[in-house]
This record gives sequence, C-alpha cells and structure tokens, in this order.
Amino acid sequence: MKILLTGGAGFIGSHTCVELCQAGHEAVIVDNYVNSSPEAVRRVEKIVRHPVVCYEADVRDAAAMNRIFDEHSFDAVIHFAGLKAVGESVAQPLRYYRNNLDSTLTLMEVMQAHGVKRIVFSSSATVYGNQPVVPYREDMPSLGCTNPYGWTKFMIEKILEGQAAADPEWSVVLLRYFNPIGAHASGLIGEDPSGIPNNLMPYIAKVAVGELDHLNVFGNDYPTKDGTGVRDYIHVVDLARGHVLACGYAAEHTGSEIINLGTGVGYSVLDLVHTFDRVNNVHIPYVIAPRRAGDIAENYADPSKALALLGWKAEKNLEDMCRDTYHFQTLNPKGYHGSAGV
Ligand code: NAD
Ligand code: UD1
Repeated sequence: MKILLTGGAGFIGSHTCVELCQAGHEAVIVDNYVNSSPEAVRRVEKIVRHPVVCYEADVRDAAAMNRIFDEHSFDAVIHFAGLKAVGESVAQPLRYYRNNLDSTLTLMEVMQAHGVKRIVFSSSATVYGNQPVVPYREDMPSLGCTNPYGWTKFMIEKILEGQAAADPEWSVVLLRYFNPIGAHASGLIGEDPSGIPNNLMPYIAKVAVGELDHLNVFGNDYPTKDGTGVRDYIHVVDLARGHVLACGYAAEHTGSEIINLGTGVGYSVLDLVHTFDRVNNVHIPYVIAPRRAGDIAENYADPSKALALLGWKAEKNLEDMCRDTYHFQTLNPKGYHGSAGV
C-alpha cells in the first residue's frame, strides 16, 4: 500500500515509517517540523536503505495538501500531525485547537475530494478521562478530558466517527495509545523533546546522561504497590507495528473502530527507575516530590481488542524500553541536532 504519514518526521511517525517500509509498503511523509527535524527522515532512510518522499508543509494548508494528493495515489493516511504537550495546551488552548482541529478537517476534506477514505488516527488514552476501574476498555464511555490537548483528541475522534457514519465507504481506525517510550534498536531514531521534558522516560534519559540533575517523583502516596503512579508503557516499535496492522485492517473493513494500543501491564515510576538503572548500569538519582496536578494513580489498557481485530500484541518488555531509550540518548545526547548518530 502507499500510505501518507502526516507528522511522519515525529517520534511515533518516524518509527512507523520504518516499520511500514520494512513490511513492503511505500510511505510518504508530510510534516512542517514544528516539533521535529528533517534529520529524523534522513535517519529513517538510513535504516530502510532507500529514499523516503517527504514534503515540508502544514497539514492545514489545503493547497499544499491538494498538490500532494494530486501527485500520489494513496491507499490510506496515518494522521500523526498534532501538537501534544499537555501543559502547553493549557497555556495556549487556541493554538492547540487551531492546529489539531484545522489540520484534521483540512486533511479529511482533501482525502474526501481525492477519494481516499481510509484513515488511522493517533488518539490517546487521555480520552478515557479518570476512570474508576482498570484496565481501560474501548467500550468505556469517556469521562471527559482534563486539558485542551485531550479535548482535541476527543473532538477529532468524533469528527472521524461522524464522517464514517455519514459515508459508508470510509474506514476509520482510532488508535488510543497508552504511554509510548523507547527507541529504534539502531539508536538512529528516538524521542527528541525540545526543552525540559514533561514526560517520565525522556526526563530519566536526560538525568542518565547528566543533562538534568535528578528526577522528581511526583507523589509516593497513591494507592498503588509502591505509592508511585502506574502507567502502561509501550515500546514505540511495538506501537509502530500496530499502525502497519491497522492499515491492513482499514483496507478490509469500513466503519470506525476504537482500538487500544498498550501492553496491558502497569508499571510504577519506581519500576521504571530501577529497571533503567539495572539494564543500563547507571544510577538515576531521584527525590520524592508532591503530586503533579491532574495526575491519576493508575491506568493501563485492556489490549484484547487489538489482538482480536489486528492480531497485534506488544512483544517488547520494560527492559527493552529502558535499554533502547538509553542507547538513543547516549548516541544522540543533544538529540538530532547535536550528533551524526551512528
Ligand atoms: P511528535 O511531536 O514527535 O510528532 C508530531 C509531528 O507532527 C511532529 O513531527 C510535528 O512537527 C508535526 N506537526 C504538528 N502539527 C503539524 C501541522 N499542522 N502540519 C504538519 N505537521 C505537523 O509527537 P509523537 O509523540 O510522535 O505523537 C504523534 C501523535 O500521537 C500526535 O498526534 C500525538 O498527540 C499522539 N499521541 C502521542 C503520545 C505520546 O506520548 N507520544 C500519546 C498519545 C497520543
Ligand atoms: C501524560 C499526559 C497525557 C499524555 C501523555 C503522553 C498529563 C497529566 N498526562 O501522561 O495526557 O497523553 O503524557 O505521553 O500530563 N512522573 C514523575 N516525574 C516526572 C514525570 C512524570 O514522577 O518528571 C510520573 C507521573 O506522575 C506519572 C508517570 O510518571 O505517574 C508518567 O507520567 P508521564 O510520562 O508524564 O505520562 P502521563 O502522565 O501518563
């Protein structure tokens, strides 16, 4: 299949591009590099050993998107493009709604005009809200979101479901990711956050290479096994494989489906720290800090629908996630800008 990846230069998009190419598909990228770098695409080309067509454009730019669709006959689109920092979305809600919603609406209109009716969308477990029970299942009604970023995911799910309901030729797969971490085993591509990371694993990685002093563990008084927050961490390469299978599913079905991509296993903050220390033979200093506003005690996925519909399940474990993250971080201590990689 020939597949367009919006936001394909980003963390998850670049890994998905590799998996698609290695599965024999043709991937085309469109990205405006608002949170990524063309270097990521060059690294992808190095891994797959052939060029990847990549356009620098904003998905909100209908003229540019029409030109791309005129040049290619796509079988499906994977829509990664979006702004994703929760705290930033609280400070800049209009920017988040404008970027994430406009890009989706423009993309859908251009797809419709070109008769491309299969889309796989990067949604998030954040859409569930703070559920009273775990694991999270796709049939649980959303309890609302706690920030504008989350609401953009919620609204985009509704936009895509509405289109699938209105036109029976559409196929929509809404992938709700849990907590993607890790990096490609080559050490060539990985997560390259700008500034001080907000998320746990990128923060640990920067402490590991001495760029940050210590980790603040946000709360050790949650009702969990060791008092620290529990999440479903998923290796980005497993997540990427899920997209390849979702494209195959979209080619054979119409309508819309919500599918969790998680391992089904929850790990605590301290599980991550201790595993990272052990497999990488490093020491991550940490201090217990107050809870972070908006955090919940525990979430993890019920991943059985992904197995039933896609034949997908996570294969990599927490040790792989910690090892691959550290490998990328040590080879690229300043991310894509500071090093030529390996
Ligand atoms: P990322 O920021 O690395 O990738 C997103 C890409 O989209 C970037 O390359 C960025 O430059 C591009 N982009 C943003 N707006 C654009 C626009 N208007 N036009 C063109 N390109 C644009 O993020 P990621 O971690 O790879 O996440 C990919 C998707 O998955 C996002 O939609 C994100 O919200 C979603 N998601 C991520 C996580 C996570 O923890 N990483 C969890 C759940 C959902
Ligand atoms: C966060 C977002 C979520 C988003 C996801 C993307 C919030 C409230 N939620 O999820 O909407 O989809 O990122 O990956 O921001 N922790 C520390 N110290 C740190 C950082 C984190 O102890 O420096 C803890 C947190 O309290 C939490 C766990 O680590 O228990 C994971 O945090 P994080 O990586 O930020 O992910 P989420 O909060 O699950």
